[in-house]
Amino acid sequence: MRKFLAFAVALFMVFSLVGCSSETPTETTGTEGGDTTGGETVANNQKPLIWFNRQPSNSTTGELDMNALSFNENTYYVGFDANQGAELQGQMVVDYITAHASEIDRNGDGVIGYVLAIGDIGHNDSIARTRGVRSALGTGIEGENGIVSDPVGVNTDGSSSVVKDGSIELDGTTYFVRELASQEMKNATGATWDAATAGNAINTWSASFGDQIDLVVSNNDGMGMAMFNGWSKAQGVPTFGYDANADAVAAIAEGYGGTISQHADVQAYLTLRLVRNVVDGVDINTGIATADDAGNVLSDDVYYYDEEARSYYALNVAVTADNYEDFLDSTVPYAPVSNELDKEAHPAKNVWLDIYNSADNFLSATYQPLLQNYDDILNLNVEYIGGDGQNESAIVNRLGNPSQYDAFCINMVKTDNATSYTAVLNQ
Ligand code: BGC
Repeated sequence: MRKFLAFAVALFMVFSLVGCSSETPTETTGTEGGDTTGGETVANNQKPLIWFNRQPSNSTTGELDMNALSFNENTYYVGFDANQGAELQGQMVVDYITAHASEIDRNGDGVIGYVLAIGDIGHNDSIARTRGVRSALGTGIEGENGIVSDPVGVNTDGSSSVVKDGSIELDGTTYFVRELASQEMKNATGATWDAATAGNAINTWSASFGDQIDLVVSNNDGMGMAMFNGWSKAQGVPTFGYDANADAVAAIAEGYGGTISQHADVQAYLTLRLVRNVVDGVDINTGIATADDAGNVLSDDVYYYDEEARSYYALNVAVTADNYEDFLDSTVPYAPVSNELDKEAHPAKNVWLDIYNSADNFLSATYQPLLQNYDDILNLNVEYIGGDGQNESAIVNRLGNPSQYDAFCINMVKTDNATSYTAVLNQ
């Protein structure tokens, strides 16, 4: 019903506002050069451009792509603080080990062995999580750019040069901590963070050294849950993920060790809120740092803005057996920013938004449903484009006529690929 109303208001705006050419995507015949925001013609390369979830950056060095991040004065990135979250994930695992000292070493060999599912070796969030776990468990090795984040393959004998054995003292006994195996979970066609690949990996690993695996750690819940359901749940082996997807949070009641909420409810809001503020021509922090006319506002314990990187980052929260009941529904708007805007004061606008992989558990089960709640609240007509996780050009091709839209929210397949999109906006 709300969607229908938003659509009706959008149509009303199209036909009633003098000088406004904001159109719904399906009706446009193709205008040259740009359309309108607030009555003035805006060139496509001046419209709001919000990168989200995959920060434009060099996938080898991690260096931010400032050309993409400052493409125009209405360009921002929305993500979460990867280092703070990674530290929390590592600490959550260590806390679990400490709290379960007497039963953690399942085969009593004096080695606490873990396996690690890596999402995407070229994604800075994935890299941060691998480093966070290795750092907390003492298995990381310092490389040129910080802790080495490469996968080890199989390292049951502890001979890898990518990680080292850590050690931890529990109730007066010193245990080794070893990363028994890790790999990038990329499928045959190239999609990363691939849950099915993680499910296959745990089958392979457990078949050859299952009795040595005391913990399973994953860069995200999609892969973590595939390993949990495929093996560790039945074995009673604690499994840790990241994202606080609803299925993973619910699984904590069944032995899933814990996860991290990256406050997707705040990120999804920020992604669309920045668009709203630009098209409304108001201060960019309206409804963010300062309350808007509906009372929406965020407090600084849930996000911060890094001006140099033009990036808004949500803060992470650990979700464990102690607090998981508060996180069971991952798709509810964050209460302090859930007040619907007045549709007359904030007329409907058209937004092009893509999700790099419609099969990505976090983006499809948590982030997109949140966006769909916020697009009603913020009165934005969002066209959601789903990619296959590997083919950037298939997504870019869907941006065939950018003049139909008032803003763009982009989730890249590969963090190096920003120019594939900005080239279209520059045409
Ligand atoms: C999420 C992953 C997701 C990835 C996609 C990360 O922030 O934690 O679950 O697959 O983004 O880019």
